[in-house]
Amino acid sequence: MYRAVAVARPLQRTLVRRVSTSFNSHGGGGSMLEGYTPPTTSPANDMIAQLAAKHLDRLSLKDLIRFGRPPLTAQSLLTSARITREYLPVRLSRRIRALRNLPYIIVSNPNISKIYNNYIESLTAILAFPANSLTNLTEESKFTELLTEIVKTHSNTIPVLAKGFLECRGYTTPEEATKFLDHHLRARIGTRLMAEQHIGLHLASVPQPPTIDVPGESYIGTVDTELRPAEIIDSCASFVGDICELRYGARPKLTIDGNPDIMFPYIPVHLEYIITELLKNAFRATIEANTPVPITVTIAAAPGPPDAGGITIRIRDQGGGIAPEDFCHIWSYSFSTFNGSRSSIGSGNSGHLDDLCDVGTDGGDDVMSRFTESAGALETSSIAGLGYGLPMSRAYAEYFGGSLKVQSAYGWGTDVYLRLKGVGLDGL
Ligand SMILES: Nc1ncnc2c1ncn2[C@@H]1O[C@H](COP(=O)(O)OP(=O)(O)OP(=O)(O)O)[C@@H](O)[C@H]1O
Ligand SMILES: [Mg+2]
Repeated sequence: MYRAVAVARPLQRTLVRRVSTSFNSHGGGGSMLEGYTPPTTSPANDMIAQLAAKHLDRLSLKDLIRFGRPPLTAQSLLTSARITREYLPVRLSRRIRALRNLPYIIVSNPNISKIYNNYIESLTAILAFPANSLTNLTEESKFTELLTEIVKTHSNTIPVLAKGFLECRGYTTPEEATKFLDHHLRARIGTRLMAEQHIGLHLASVPQPPTIDVPGESYIGTVDTELRPAEIIDSCASFVGDICELRYGARPKLTIDGNPDIMFPYIPVHLEYIITELLKNAFRATIEANTPVPITVTIAAAPGPPDAGGITIRIRDQGGGIAPEDFCHIWSYSFSTFNGSRSSIGSGNSGHLDDLCDVGTDGGDDVMSRFTESAGALETSSIAGLGYGLPMSRAYAEYFGGSLKVQSAYGWGTDVYLRLKGVGLDGL
């Protein structure tokens, strides 16, 4: 099945590789960017400021499916490319502006400046692609190759940013770090989606060599109009079960009830990301509590069209719940209780987030070693440790008007409610 790329996870990491292979093998192995001169100078500061100040509409699921089902006509594909060429620089400039607004000591951290340079590089490359050349499919293909490179450049952003912020934990408070990261990572969802949407539309509209995975017929770019949440839950459970086996030598049981047959138009990589993170938490709690009680995932569809009520997915575990003193930290980036540590970005400085939630601080080295295990494990996948799972999942859920809520019965277990709105498919 076709998978776009939202985050660097093994389950979700295939499209960019496939697209790159596609482009590199096209035309007998030569790059389609032949004749394209990479830019040597970065955009001037005032140009970044001007672009960042431009109006930007919020991306909606409706926007993503506005061209209808692929294959798109050449005209529609070119329109999609032009819109992406126009608005991606605005989004990239806003990220650059936000990074520049961080205190100098933070921006000059090697990890954070690496992310900053990636944005500058991507903006430079896209601005060097002449917007008025997008009048034929050869140029559109070159542009799609460039988008693919840009998506690839940014695929490892989260662990690098996380490491940078941990290294800067003495120079920022948890609230400031979480505020920046939340804003930045939410905006990044839209930037990435914009590029991936055009790549997906291109793959489904322009003939591809047989070796290339193209989106299935139910896809409109990154949106699967016939997404079955139960299938995603099954595949994520199998993946998370494998990680558990590696880490703990055991795999909790999981049952799906409610309405497992429903179909729902949504972006599979987003749902996959969220479900993987929520199952990692539930599996870990279940194993650490040493309970044989299965995790129950209930799928419920609200009456009416998917863009009205949408769906609710409840993940229920009996893994002992979350201690009250930890509960108020669970939405902070970097807060984790993995490996016995209880820590958050900035804890080396302030030691607590608020009066109700006075967390004992780790020594910095403990936090870093937890990070090293977890971030290194982003490649091989780890059960927990980075402290990004819940806040990032909520960011994905809220991006298109959904929500993520956690309820804990400490001493018993945890219920997580994921609500997602779909998009009406009338007229498609
Ligand atoms: N189902 C659950 N049962 C018990 N504790 C939970 C559960 N879900 C989350 N938590 C608590 O919330 C903390 C933060 O969760 P979060 O998913 O954000 O980070 P993490 O799991 O530690 O690391 P990762 O970034 O790998 O997800 C966890 O460390 C854990 O203490
Ligand atoms: Mg987690």
